Amino acid sequence: MIQKVDLLDLAFSMPKTELHLHIEGTFEAEQMFEFAQRNNIALTYSSIDQLKQAYSFANLQEFLDLYYQGMSVLITEQDFYELTMAYLTKVHAQNVVHVEIFFDPQGHLERGIPFSTQINGIYRALKEAESKWDMTFKLIMSFLRHLSEESAFATLEQAIPHLEKIYAVGLDSSELGHPPEKFLRVFKACQNLGLKVTAHAGEEGPAKYIWQAVDDIKVDRIDHGNRSLEDKDLIHRLNHEQLTLTVCPLSNEKLCVVDDMSQHPIREMLSHGLLATVNSDDPAYFGGYMNENYQALIEQSKITIAELKQLAKNSFNGAWMPADKRQKYLSQIDELFAFT
Ligand code: ADE
Ligand code: ZN
Repeated sequence: MIQKVDLLDLAFSMPKTELHLHIEGTFEAEQMFEFAQRNNIALTYSSIDQLKQAYSFANLQEFLDLYYQGMSVLITEQDFYELTMAYLTKVHAQNVVHVEIFFDPQGHLERGIPFSTQINGIYRALKEAESKWDMTFKLIMSFLRHLSEESAFATLEQAIPHLEKIYAVGLDSSELGHPPEKFLRVFKACQNLGLKVTAHAGEEGPAKYIWQAVDDIKVDRIDHGNRSLEDKDLIHRLNHEQLTLTVCPLSNEKLCVVDDMSQHPIREMLSHGLLATVNSDDPAYFGGYMNENYQALIEQSKITIAELKQLAKNSFNGAWMPADKRQKYLSQIDELFAFT
């Protein structure tokens, strides 16, 4: 019992980064109804409670159907700003000091919302958090993999005037049937522009998709990567390349990627030396932000103090942040765990 209290306390108080977060997945039902009302948009759910009752998913696609519906009430730059600010305020209170945020421009462009409206609102909130709290950040533009490579290229075209605000590109949405190789050329174009690349792989899709992301796309990071554990050679390769995995425990549970939290593979990942990190993915839909993800791992997966420290360090070593800040936070973690 004492051990459990100490671990929770440590997890909550330690500095944290969030490396896998879809800003549209932070849309709390209350805020969604507020925006729907002020933008005069009818939601298919008659109340906040009814909407929340729909948060039960058998797989990724069932969640995505609701996620795209939810984001349809984001209209103005102020909407994107307030959505982002609400998320940053919450995680600042959880000692998150660095965030790397995905946004899905195609989910808004196809509704007629200009690229500049989206990015300017999100970016304004990030800059405000930076000046108020010294919170550092990177913005990641994600391509929707159920759409065509042509659509991804058209989106990249729209991003060109805003490249100074974008650090990396990602690949998300329905994984099965949409392998990374479908986007080989557009990722090459992004790399030629100096952008970093990450891709969701091995969430529902097979280890083969992770191989493609590593071998063909030459990603800088893997989002999820759960199914890498099925392939010893792949584990070896991920370790050799020192590729960080942005793992999302509560997401995996809610989307039935794992049977239950006690079966979560993050401890096995660590035991193989994989650079696993803890992240929240779509916290408004999956029942928790950063602290709640750590709490689930502590209470249900029984992670040890040594594993908690490793996860904390991995999250800073895998972050795209200035070296001096990284060092400062790594030292703080060493001090916090010095008694162990
Ligand atoms: N978009 C938002 N959340 C996602 C997830 N967990 N997997 C793929 N695409 C997503
Ligand atoms: Zn994700």
